[in-house]
Amino acid sequence: MIELKEVRKSFGKQEVLKGISLKVEKGEVVAVVGPSGSGKTTLLRCINFLEKPTSGEVIVGDLAVAAGRAHRKEVLALRRKTSMVFQQYNLFRHKTALENVMEGLTVVRKLPKAEARERSVRLLEKVGLGAKLDAYPSRLSGGQQQRIGIARALAMEPEAILLDEPTSALDPELVGEVLAVIRNIAKEGITMIIVTHEMSFAQEVASRVVFMDQGTIVEEGPPGELFARPKEERTRLFLSRFAPEGSYSI
Ligand SMILES: Nc1ncnc2c1ncn2[C@@H]1O[C@H](COP(=O)(O)OP(=O)(O)O)[C@@H](O)[C@H]1O
Ligand SMILES: [Mg+2]
Repeated sequence: MIELKEVRKSFGKQEVLKGISLKVEKGEVVAVVGPSGSGKTTLLRCINFLEKPTSGEVIVGDLAVAAGRAHRKEVLALRRKTSMVFQQYNLFRHKTALENVMEGLTVVRKLPKAEARERSVRLLEKVGLGAKLDAYPSRLSGGQQQRIGIARALAMEPEAILLDEPTSALDPELVGEVLAVIRNIAKEGITMIIVTHEMSFAQEVASRVVFMDQGTIVEEGPPGELFARPKEERTRLFLSRFAPEGSYSI
């Protein structure tokens, strides 16, 4: 479904992805964890060429795009296959909740307005915002704004959804409502890669956890194993900052 082959990315002299290879099967939910600056966001952005990898290959569904010879058309096709949910929501401030979700459908997908509207309403209802269709982001809580971001990502009916720390900008009391929405979509079998610091959530929804540090995948495995019995010292050290050893239950 999604495959990265030896993906490297440098910004100037700094190599931030040092040959990442990763396979995500259809319907799989993969959590990516790791310290700040380890390259998690860059990794997600390389999947849809929001950042063009320096070398390597990205495969999404039936489309393989090599870094060196990526044509614009291929990149656009690749972008249509995934939707991104951003840490800072990235909503249009001057558009309502409904207009935010409709935008990609009418502008990018060229859907008739009525159809775009119908789909958007259904998705906003699904994320619990059926009563806020005409509200502007500034009148909504962070949790509500992020739920619009999720509805917008789902609206495009992508093959996979990439979520970059979707709850890290939220006040603690709003995290739960967003995680609940993500938990529900995960159950529907949508392929997801989610960068998160919510370890217990990762443990609950992810079929696999990938630990990144300094531009490499240090180790990966089922959450029960990786959290309870990390093989690498670096993983152990990272996890110990989130909870005392042994406090993760399966
Ligand atoms: N557009 C950019 N230009 C230059 N350096 C960048 C850019 N984006 C990220 N970096 C650098 O790449 C490294 C990895 O960043 P990032 O992928 O955001 O890590 P994470 O999401 O794990 O915190 C950091 O050192 C960051 O400063
Ligand atoms: Mg990041």
